[in-house]
Amino acid sequence: MEASRTQLASEAFRCWVGEMENSYHLTGSAVGPHPCPTMVREFQSVIGRETRKQALEKWGGKPDVLVACVGTGSNALGLFHEFLEDKDVRLIGVEAGGCGLESGRHSSTLVTGEVGVYHGVLSYLLQDQDGQIIGPHSISPGMEYPGVSPELSYLKETGRPEFCVATDQEALDG
Ligand SMILES: Cc1ncc(COP(=O)(O)O)c(C=O)c1O
Repeated sequence: MEASRTQLASEAFRCWVGEMENSYHLTGSAVGPHPCPTMVREFQSVIGRETRKQALEKWGGKPDVLVACVGTGSNALGLFHEFLEDKDVRLIGVEAGGCGLESGRHSSTLVTGEVGVYHGVLSYLLQDQDGQIIGPHSISPGMEYPGVSPELSYLKETGRPEFCVATDQEALDG
């Protein structure tokens, strides 16, 4: 069985802290300890800038609605960041609903999670009442992570972007 994204991240952290003298850890998503989330947000923000440019060229204005999938939140953050002040543009993040929220087998961190610390960062998390991580599930391996970007967690609390879920079946039907 292939390792999940969570297991791979945990293994990378284990390896790094065991060999700090001769290894370097760079998180490839908008999670993990600072400054990785900020760096990745900055790199990914080219998506939003390019979207604004292309919308202007193709439609002569701004998009009405922007929709991004939210795994750890890198692409969503990169897209939304450019448009945060444009209140006439709706921002919608779609999380992986897996087998359905009621099944408990999903990756809907922002929609159903609670705030906690995991992999060195404070964010919404899939966790049980004792603060133990609940293994995430999605048919898409890239969406399978129990945490999410701390900045997207903050944005959820501002109420600016909207967040919803799509189940595995809905994704397959789409
Ligand atoms: C298959 C797949 N889907 C979605 C994502 C989205 O992840 P993020 O929310 O970090 O942009 C990824 C990222 O690696 C991926 O590999």
